[in-house]
Amino acid sequence: MSAPCRVTINGRTVEVPAGTLVTDAARAAEVHIPIFCSHAKLPPLGACRICVVEIGLPKRGPDRQVVLAADGTPEIAWMPKVQTACTTTVADGMHVRTESPEAVKARKGVMEFLLVNHPLDCPVCDEGGECQLQDLAFAFGADFSRMADAASVPKSARSTASRSNASSAATASRCARSAR
Ligand code: SF4
Ligand code: FES
Repeated sequence: MSAPCRVTINGRTVEVPAGTLVTDAARAAEVHIPIFCSHAKLPPLGACRICVVEIGLPKRGPDRQVVLAADGTPEIAWMPKVQTACTTTVADGMHVRTESPEAVKARKGVMEFLLVNHPLDCPVCDEGGECQLQDLAFAFGADFSRMADAASVPKSARSTASRSNASSAATASRCARSAR
């Protein structure tokens, strides 16, 4: 059995079994990482990207030894791009930032894409109040749109199904995966 991994998430260090997903390690550290397409009982998918975070690992020198900072702690080499927490497994010494400007900016960008063709119909939508997409939009969505073009779904064609396309796409992908 492999040794447990020590992971530091937003400054909180937890010890979790090797192979644990970053989302689950964050739960152990009581740090919230939003998820949309993933489900605890299904294999990782990484489709929606709302769970993006910054991830870093201890830096190693040419001799493969961990490089220490001036204060004696390992220097952390941060990956150049954000990663999906729901598909990334932990490694010993890993550091995760969920609320850094890069992570927050990336998450807001994901919300913008999820909502780009989504009607602003929450007050009259059947799913209003029980909608994961609505919750995520409240938490991470912008209060304006940069899109100048009209939405590709005309208002007349908006059924309950088209209203909830992003929300039901996530649900549908879970159903399809659980049926495999
Ligand atoms: S499906 Fe869309 S319109 Fe309906 S409650 Fe959710 S976010 Fe609002
Ligand atoms: S929750 Fe969808 S990519 Fe992670």
